[in-house]
Amino acid sequence: MKLERILQNQGFGSRRQCRQLVELGEVRIGGEIVDNPGAEIATAGLVFEVEGEAWTYREKTYLALYKPSGYECSHEPKHHRGVYSLLPHQLVARNVQSVGRLDVDTTGLLLFSDDGAFIHNLSSPKKHVPKIYRAELAEDGSETLIQRLLAGVDLIDEPLPVPALTARLLAPRTLEMSVDLGKYHVVKRMIAAAGNHVEQLHRSGFGGLSLGEGCLAGLAEGEWVYLEAADLQQLHPAA
Ligand code: URA
Repeated sequence: MKLERILQNQGFGSRRQCRQLVELGEVRIGGEIVDNPGAEIATAGLVFEVEGEAWTYREKTYLALYKPSGYECSHEPKHHRGVYSLLPHQLVARNVQSVGRLDVDTTGLLLFSDDGAFIHNLSSPKKHVPKIYRAELAEDGSETLIQRLLAGVDLIDEPLPVPALTARLLAPRTLEMSVDLGKYHVVKRMIAAAGNHVEQLHRSGFGGLSLGEGCLAGLAEGEWVYLEAADLQQLHPAA
């Protein structure tokens, strides 16, 4: 692929801007400056440097962000900062989208990609990919709360009762539960329907990926990492 095209589809700007970067000697491959924008470069396993920063060529890109509280999952945030401001502008230029959304005050694991089929697959309730949440409750939880969540609660826009896949108390006011539905405020609404109230919500896991484990070990709030093929396989634990 022509070098200027590689840069363009990896998010380094318009064709003209990419051509300029190359002509100015800002692009290196294997440590050598390549200043011909039309140079044909093999993309498989390609690592290139732009303005001294190393990048790996990725046909599609997959990311995991540890979302802090106070960020909106929107490209045009209205009242808070946007989660996209936590990602490098090259990835935003590639038009990565979040897989579903977390509320502005929810913290935890948020995935992004520019692979539409991947996003669709993970968002589809038919795929039953569990999302694991930890909720701090306003009142002590009880066995009744757990049983109600597991049995399924009525939500206004859902034709059938919505059950939690798992639910257990980690502490009197700390509930861990998983759901495979990605609806607006679903966890907060389920817990409200079961008779309690969420004070703080955190998503600790998505499919087989968990914050603090494996490829996400050491990821701090506000930080992101690329997800590689082996990490993506863990998203579908049963597959
Ligand atoms: N359910 C909620 O209520 N809020 C979130 O941010 C995610 C799931």
